[in-house]
Amino acid sequence: MAPTQKALLLPKKFGEFVVGEVPVPTPGAGEIKIKIISSSLNPVDWKIQKYGIFFDKFPAVLGSDIAGDVEELGAGVNVFKVGDRVFTQGLRSNETAGFQQYALARSSTVSKIPENTSYDGAASFPVALSAAYLGLYNKNPHGLGFAPPTTKNQGKYSGVSIVILGGSSSVGQNAIQLAKISGFSPIITTASVKHTDYLKALGATAILDRNLSSPALVAEIGKITNKPIKTVYDAISTAETQQNGLDILAPGGQLAVVDAPVPKPTEGKVIIQVIGGLALPHNIDILSHFYHDVVFGFLEKGWLKPNNIEVLPGGLSGIPDGLARLEGNQVSNLKLVARPQETSLY
Ligand SMILES: NC(=O)c1ccc[n+]([C@@H]2O[C@H](COP(=O)([O-])OP(=O)(O)OC[C@H]3O[C@@H](n4cnc5c(N)ncnc54)[C@H](OP(=O)(O)O)[C@@H]3O)[C@@H](O)[C@H]2O)c1
Repeated sequence: MAPTQKALLLPKKFGEFVVGEVPVPTPGAGEIKIKIISSSLNPVDWKIQKYGIFFDKFPAVLGSDIAGDVEELGAGVNVFKVGDRVFTQGLRSNETAGFQQYALARSSTVSKIPENTSYDGAASFPVALSAAYLGLYNKNPHGLGFAPPTTKNQGKYSGVSIVILGGSSSVGQNAIQLAKISGFSPIITTASVKHTDYLKALGATAILDRNLSSPALVAEIGKITNKPIKTVYDAISTAETQQNGLDILAPGGQLAVVDAPVPKPTEGKVIIQVIGGLALPHNIDILSHFYHDVVFGFLEKGWLKPNNIEVLPGGLSGIPDGLARLEGNQVSNLKLVARPQETSLY
């Protein structure tokens, strides 16, 4: 009989989560099996349950942020060895999901974890980091089209302004850090003012109160720079923040959003919708290169810092309460992380 593992199951569309058992998957060619030590929660996980999106086969295993140890290598994998500490993003399939004890990953989209980063810290990155990276560097119409910050492009955008709405969100923090690596200046963000010092340390050069009206935001930005704002990354993307983003933009500018676009742009402004799925054809090459070749160095150098972490109690069984807190906007400047190996069925 195939070995089984504990997993947090969504038994049916709109169902309630329950801890159960599923088979441990076996890696195919080019894949590795990861023993998951840490898996973090994302807003999309409660949205999948509440709105019945993305999954049609049940029971479904959710969770997309994975950090752990390489446990088994599929045929042809030679860049990893058993026991390596790694992190990756799940592909929205049961075998590659994070809310379980073991998952498969394509070795081409896995990164080793440097010594300065914990499993919990590494698990705070993938979904939010991919969304930030794709939004800034994927080609139009999937991203803003800036040159990715591989060695020769680091610092390339010195003197180019960027506004990042929602800097204290996970996506926003990664966007700020990447914008700093790319050299953007100024890097203006909106957040609760209590996060000012934290976000300055990440690389934001100006933090504006997230509660300002859009005319007030435009006025404050005008005091920081007299150059036209051609780029806004909206890391929150409610109807209100999207409208603020368009209001801030100069004619012909681009607004990247991480949810469905709501307002209709005018004056030649463009809305770019970022969809961070690792399996999407237009994301595979850019993310494979990033995870396989680039991100390890950014973490090792301290250029990308993990979010503040709260570890949920009870392993997988702590996740539903964590998702309810995310849905209720009760999570501020924090990544909720579960440790699947701590799960007990009874
Ligand atoms: N398209 C994609 O691929 C993709 C990928 C990842 C995430 N997303 C989406 O991106 C959004 C953010 O996700 P996340 O994981 O980064 O969220 P998160 O870390 O849970 O965001 C929480 C933070 O957002 C801040 N915030 C909330 N509303 C704000 C507003 N109106 N203005 C400024 N800051 C605000 C909160 O600030 P306070 O501290 O002041 O409460 C809090 O610190 C979600 O809608 C998510 O579904 C999309």
